[in-house]
Amino acid sequence: MSNRLEACLNISDLRKYAKTKLPRPIYTFLENGSDDEYSVDNNSRAFDQLQLKPRVLRDVSSIDTRTTIMGQKVDWPVILAPTGQSRMFHHEGELAVARAAHDSGMLYSLSTFSTLDLETVAQETPGPKMFQIYVLTDHGLNDAIIERCRAAGYDALCLTVDTMVGGNREQVIRSGMTLPPKLTPMMAMQFAARPVWLWHYLTKAPWSLANLSSSPSMQKDKGSSLAKYLSGLMEHKLTWDHAAHMIKKWNGPFAVKGIHSVEDAKHAVDIGATCIMISNHGGRQLDTTPAPIELVAEIRAAVGDKIDVIVDGGIRRGTHVIKALAMGATACSIGRPYLYGLACGGQAGVARALQLLRAEIVRDMTLVGCGSLRDISPDILRRTRENFPQLDY
Ligand code: FNR
Repeated sequence: MSNRLEACLNISDLRKYAKTKLPRPIYTFLENGSDDEYSVDNNSRAFDQLQLKPRVLRDVSSIDTRTTIMGQKVDWPVILAPTGQSRMFHHEGELAVARAAHDSGMLYSLSTFSTLDLETVAQETPGPKMFQIYVLTDHGLNDAIIERCRAAGYDALCLTVDTMVGGNREQVIRSGMTLPPKLTPMMAMQFAARPVWLWHYLTKAPWSLANLSSSPSMQKDKGSSLAKYLSGLMEHKLTWDHAAHMIKKWNGPFAVKGIHSVEDAKHAVDIGATCIMISNHGGRQLDTTPAPIELVAEIRAAVGDKIDVIVDGGIRRGTHVIKALAMGATACSIGRPYLYGLACGGQAGVARALQLLRAEIVRDMTLVGCGSLRDISPDILRRTRENFPQLDY
């Protein structure tokens, strides 16, 4: 590991380092959210409204973080969220992330918008994997992707339901970002400020949306603005019927990602989903939604114990993971934290991000008096504001 990576002691340090490695438009695409970015900020801030009350004088000489997520045995209760276009942040792209996930005993999620095709990622990287699917206007393509996932050996599917249109990411529009990044005069200046990134971008494998490269809309719309491109690709008339069709067609572990309400969580379970992902897309889609952590307890109470509940958005610390589990989550999912690592140093950078977060979880479980994930319960939580009415203490 490089000295510079070693000097990063937490996810925030990696974020600052990533900012120095990426051209400004690319960093903006990674980091920024929609509208006024209330949700981006609030996702992490909401964790501050919960305090941890350690239980003392328990034997915590050994800490067991192992669990099962979507039927897959994993070493700790965090998964890697699907994030599109990884190759933009580092030339090693999705392979670096999937390999680091495997080394750390985690479940990796590959996005529909990955820059490497799903078959190559499956062949090149062992370890449990989930594929994240969007409902695209080309329904034949949707079905074909599901069959490709089955043939390639993916363990689970995740349907993202919060992206009928792209979020209003004004900072990204202002930055001049296009998909793929184009060398306009404005962008060229930004890219020139990060020559190492530019060198790799120009000399390594070309950018593509590998899972969709044969789609007519992709061919036609090459190089358009990100918002316009996404908007053209997505099924705007997305309904429960699409979700039910996919669940039936896949007939295996299936998550619905982007749930905010008890009613929708119950409906997803009724049509056969095995996992609810409480997520506001990291604050990149609809702004001013509640922080996902605020919704965990009520959704867990509604769906019962047999369904996995995964929460993402703003998770940056081991204490965040412990709080989410204490509220009733099966596991947490992280997006930007591993992308910061990827931008900083490819696979080694992702490994550093995971190492730091995992070490925090183990240390914090020790200090809070929980030797295993089963010991993490609402008893260790204290709310500091009225945002958690479901807790009656
Ligand atoms: C995302 N996210 C996302 N989600 C999804 O279902 N499909 C996708 O292709 C993407 N792409 C994507 C790209 C980038 C750059 C980011 C930052 C995020 C959302 C992601 O899965 C997850 O919900 C959030 O990243 C979680 O919030 P944090 O951990 O980034 O705060």
